[in-house]
Amino acid sequence: MTDPSVPETMTAWRQPAYGGPETVQSARVPVPEPGAGEVLVRVRATALHAGDVHIMRGEPLLVRAFFGLRGPKIATRGMDVAGTVAAIGPGVDAPAVGDEVVGELPGGGLAEYAIAPAGRVVARPAAIDAVAAAALPVSAGTAWQALDLAGGRVGAGRRVLVVGASGGVGTYTVQLAALRGAEVWAICGARNERLVADLGAARTFDYVRVDAGASPAELPAASFDAVIDIVGRAPLRALRRLVTPGGSVILVSGEGGRVLGPLGRMLRAGLLSLTPGPRLKPLAATAKPDITRQLLALVVEGRLRPVIERTYALADARARRRGAHGRQGRRHGRVSGRATGVMSHFSSLSARYSGRKWDISFRDVPLCGDSARHTERKWDMDAGGGDRARNARGERMPVACSCRPFLAVPREPESKGRRTSGQRPPHLYKEQRCRRTPFPPQRKPPTRRPRASSAPRSTADT
Ligand SMILES: NC(=O)c1ccc[n+]([C@@H]2O[C@H](COP(=O)([O-])OP(=O)(O)OC[C@H]3O[C@@H](n4cnc5c(N)ncnc54)[C@H](OP(=O)(O)O)[C@@H]3O)[C@@H](O)[C@H]2O)c1
Repeated sequence: MTDPSVPETMTAWRQPAYGGPETVQSARVPVPEPGAGEVLVRVRATALHAGDVHIMRGEPLLVRAFFGLRGPKIATRGMDVAGTVAAIGPGVDAPAVGDEVVGELPGGGLAEYAIAPAGRVVARPAAIDAVAAAALPVSAGTAWQALDLAGGRVGAGRRVLVVGASGGVGTYTVQLAALRGAEVWAICGARNERLVADLGAARTFDYVRVDAGASPAELPAASFDAVIDIVGRAPLRALRRLVTPGGSVILVSGEGGRVLGPLGRMLRAGLLSLTPGPRLKPLAATAKPDITRQLLALVVEGRLRPVIERTYALADARARRRGAHGRQGRRHGRVSGRATGVMSHFSSLSARYSGRKWDISFRDVPLCGDSARHTERKWDMDAGGGDRARNARGERMPVACSCRPFLAVPREPESKGRRTSGQRPPHLYKEQRCRRTPFPPQRKPPTRRPRASSAPRSTADT
């Protein structure tokens, strides 16, 4: 059965090949027909998240084994969708045409219509608008499953540490852990500390000042019943040290190497868990409509709040995707909107050890909503920032942008020990809050070091 108002063609943002936001193009395509067990949803809002970006880029390369070797099998990104059922395929009893639904789809949300397996969508209560509803399934579902994985360790009388508390998954993790009665400590960006405290964190820490991986005094050993690591940069041993015996570290982050992504960290976690001490548990969240239903109920009751930074119209979907964050993307909350979503800054800082030198580069232009600044920043990176960073000889070399709230300060590679070719050095740079850096950034004259100490690097750098 089909709503007679469904047109023959629709606008969809499609990508024929893996790559950055520039690979995503708007196209007029036929409205798909639902097959057996499927429904056609007229999309009202879609939220993008880290998973969409990984598939868009085809990185880590491992994702291509599942989503298409040469290009994405589903050409349209957008997994979180809220909309109206416009047609149902054979064998579908519920939902019915005209029902308002929300759910996690395999993709296809960045279009006017999307196909959804009927069992993946649930009814959207009238009290929740489509934008807020679309911000729930993946991120809040992941937060829910992460806390479930920690078991009874998140509840009344327990203390939980959330690393990466201000993002899409983090903002829900903080709220849901607090709802379960736990005392929540949270590490997030300084600009979001207030937000995270409002969401229910008893204590918040700026990740520039308090690094969970560096045994800071603020986070005493064995003081948490569970650590939920959404960032994936702190050494596993350091996270384990924070947890009480019998507690667990839940590994949520999907970041990692270019080929295997988080898999290496997961394998290390498995090996480390064989030794006595708290368990390290990787999370592989899946679409769980039943959890989405419970999350919707919490929102209706006013106990859970989707944090949405900005919404975009479908016509601006590429900008939104560009904003949807890369490895170092920073934003809080989900991207959502009328058939689209949200983001502020986007850029991806990549650092790689190739042969004998550290190669640090910015791989994407940030989205700051100001195309003039946009261009300026790209110029700055191309003309100086990136190159100087790559050739750093231990000097503090700010790579800054007026539209980015932090500075990346390369560190001396040698101080980080041996690395192999292609490995990403997570601590090669450190991030600092940008204190209103003038644009272009004022660079201090580098402090000269004795020639002898930099000699081994100088050949590689020049
Ligand atoms: N395991 C699974 O099944 C599963 C499912 C979904 C998502 N994920 C993964 O979960 C991760 C987070 O996703 P997301 O959608 O929440 O991303 P997100 O919205 O970009 O959030 C990341 C947050 O991390 C914060 N952050 C960055 N560096 C930090 C640090 N050193 N310490 C503490 N916080 C830091 C940022 O804070 P500021 O904005 O304040 O700078 C940002 O808000 C991704 O890696 C994704 O792949 C995994």
